[in-house]
Amino acid sequence: MKLLVTGGAGFIGANFVFYMLKTHPEDEIVCLDALTYAGNLETLEPVMDDPRFRFVKGDVADRETVFRLFAEEKFDVVVNFAAESHVDRSIEDPGIFLRTNILGTQVLMDAAREYGITRFHQVGTDEVYGDLPLDRPDLFFTEDMPVTASSPYSASKASADLLVMAYHRTYGLPVTISRCSNNYGPYQFPEKLIPLMIANALADKPLPVYGTGENVRDWLYVEDHCRAIDLILRDGSVGEVYNIGGHNEKSNLQVVKTILKQVGKPESLITFVGDRKGHDLRYAIDPTKIHEALGWLPETKFDDGIRQTIDWYLQHESWWKNIMSGDYQEYYDKMYGNR
Ligand code: NAD
Ligand code: DAU
Repeated sequence: MKLLVTGGAGFIGANFVFYMLKTHPEDEIVCLDALTYAGNLETLEPVMDDPRFRFVKGDVADRETVFRLFAEEKFDVVVNFAAESHVDRSIEDPGIFLRTNILGTQVLMDAAREYGITRFHQVGTDEVYGDLPLDRPDLFFTEDMPVTASSPYSASKASADLLVMAYHRTYGLPVTISRCSNNYGPYQFPEKLIPLMIANALADKPLPVYGTGENVRDWLYVEDHCRAIDLILRDGSVGEVYNIGGHNEKSNLQVVKTILKQVGKPESLITFVGDRKGHDLRYAIDPTKIHEALGWLPETKFDDGIRQTIDWYLQHESWWKNIMSGDYQEYYDKMYGNR
């Protein structure tokens, strides 16, 4: 199988490339990535010399680049991870989210129609279900819930999902969509909760918790997400949406306290800061469909996953310290300076 993996220099895309090359020695992968602030070629270093892997720098919304690549490579499968992925950045500047996440998906699907593929897989998010109240632990996101959005990021991802389904119905494009909960693990950019808190804790800096810290996320170890996508590609049904998540709900405060305990730093580092605008209260996935249809269940328990993740950040200081110099400092000061 020859796959186009877009966004493969980012957090989940890179983990997916590693997972697929390890699990399916017969597969070939071309990674198309624009190397935005979130993309990092250093991450892909371990596979750069693998004859089954090719990296191409390019923008998914650039029609000429994308069509040329499809003509050259004759892909069987497209897995679209490429996105602007950070909610806070989308609140500051929505435009690029609409371009990459919606128009980029359209361009990829147009090329897939033109050159033919057996599957177009859209990597979606549980944020397209909006949020759940904190006082209704009996409620979960199911695939038949209406699509809605709280942030420009989730609106762009919801729009992309609608477009993917429209291309299936109108043009018969063989699509699948997965909607996953919050991922954590190696190579996550330190603007997201877990790596940001690990990095700040290690540097004895304040840990900025939005609002009261009661918001709940359903955490999934990144390799469990990669395995679920692989299963959907091989055995999932065309035209279907699959939710991915593992009943692993934690409040932000619980996550931050777990990190502090494991790195041996005091809770006095926790600093409550101004809340995110439109902050979603609770995400919680019902994974019954993917479990019953494809036998998927998460394998990594949060306690093990978070320990492995912290160990990884401890052992790969240069990876994240390189990122945290330069532009990142500017971003951090802007986001957190007057919060
Ligand atoms: P990320 O921000 O770490 O990586 C995104 C990658 O996409 C980067 O390598 C970046 O360079 C690339 N990219 C951005 N714009 C591009 C463009 N125009 N053309 C080509 N490449 C471009 O994101 P992530 O956390 O790895 O998320 C990957 C996907 O998974 C996204 O679609 C996101 O919506 C989805 N998702 C993420 C999570 C999560 O918890 N991180 C959960 C569910 C779904
Ligand atoms: O649910 C899936 C989504 O998870 C993905 O679609 C997104 O791409 C991904 O970024 C993530 O979105 P969140 O907004 O949930 O993730 P983030 O790590 O930004 O924030 C997690 C929670 O932590 C959220 O309630 C906001 C809070 N937070 C975050 C940061 C960065 C803080 O309290 N302080 C912080 O500094």
